[in-house]
Amino acid sequence: MKLLTIVGARPQFIKASVVSKAIIEQGGLSEKIIHTGQHFDTNMSEIFFDQLGIPRPDFQLDIHGGSHGEMTGRMLMEIERVMIHEKPDRVLVYGDTNSTLAGALAAAKLHIPVAHIEAGLRSFNMRMPEEINRILTDQMSDLLFCPTQTAITNLTKEGFSDKPVKILKSGDVMQDSAMFFARRASKPEGFNISDGFVLATLHRAENTDDRIRLKSIVDALNIIHNTVAPVLLPLHPRTRKIIEETGLALEVNLIDPVGYLEMIWLLQRCGLVLTDSGGVQKEAFFFSRPCVTMRDQTEWVELVEAGANVLCGADSCLITAAVRDGINRIVQDNEHLYGGGQAAPFIADHLSRL
Ligand code: UD1
Ligand code: UDP
Repeated sequence: MKLLTIVGARPQFIKASVVSKAIIEQGGLSEKIIHTGQHFDTNMSEIFFDQLGIPRPDFQLDIHGGSHGEMTGRMLMEIERVMIHEKPDRVLVYGDTNSTLAGALAAAKLHIPVAHIEAGLRSFNMRMPEEINRILTDQMSDLLFCPTQTAITNLTKEGFSDKPVKILKSGDVMQDSAMFFARRASKPEGFNISDGFVLATLHRAENTDDRIRLKSIVDALNIIHNTVAPVLLPLHPRTRKIIEETGLALEVNLIDPVGYLEMIWLLQRCGLVLTDSGGVQKEAFFFSRPCVTMRDQTEWVELVEAGANVLCGADSCLITAAVRDGINRIVQDNEHLYGGGQAAPFIADHLSRL
């Protein structure tokens, strides 16, 4: 079985780190990797290959920037070229980025079966580029590895149980990564803030590209930093550019994006996670930290239901109040909502038996 995997953005490298390892350990499967180039800074891409032992990509497409259509279209052309040459038996895609959609679409048009890892997630907000990407990718996949029961339910409601596809509850590969790399956590260079700080991330288009939302979030971050606890913000390059362009004054501890081992170290020591990331919401839970999410919806609704995550949109009062209320609370994972760290071997085993 010849697999061709498409990755391109930071969270996909972290997910692929455990799945590619499981694929090697499983035996009977060969994997080649395309890196689309969507993320390209050293600390958004190469650092993860170095730290996490991900096999080096066989194909580097170096495609990034431009509009959604332009980026996805260029990826589609180049990925198709590789697929025609490599003739894989199956294509593997992760999550919901433009790289995911381009990989799935190129494969579907060539009648190559697609396996989607992190299938079935929905925010029910079609203005999110990720929602479009994930719905279309699910439609083109015949093997849908769902991280949660909610994801299975979403697909069932959309009529997937009547289609000739396999829907499997694999658990979440991000829990595998968190558990595997937890003991290799590494202190970021020069870090000198006491435990109990607020670990923040901010990059979601709906926040960065809306001036009113962005200002409201910056206000909240500044208030929290000045009155509740120090805020540490490893800033995504997208957000850094926009903050510089708009001239908004961020008074928090700003650092460049960190590697995954450093991110885990920070998660293990912070008092609360404040984020608009998908993956980081769950990582807060994996490391027993409360989470405040700066979005109007989340795909990870079970965390909100379990009281581990509070949705605050971009409202600075709500965000500040939720952080004050939640900081240093310990969150317990009693329910194994995400499969307990066995998703990658499950996926590799399943692929090997096709
Ligand atoms: C993308 C995904 C998003 C995911 C995020 C993970 C889509 C539509 N969005 O968003 O779902 O949550 O990745 O981080 O696929 N940039 C750099 N250097 C880099 C990477 C990005 O400078 O290494 C800048 C570029 O100016 C680029 C902008 O960030 O134009 C946005 O990057 P892009 O990949 O389009 O979207 P993300 O916001 O990273
Ligand atoms: N992450 C990281 N360094 C950082 C910020 C995030 O390694 O400076 C990791 C984080 O721990 C998680 C993943 O990147 O595993 C989440 O990616 P991101 O927030 O960019 O994307 P999303 O999950 O929202 O798609």
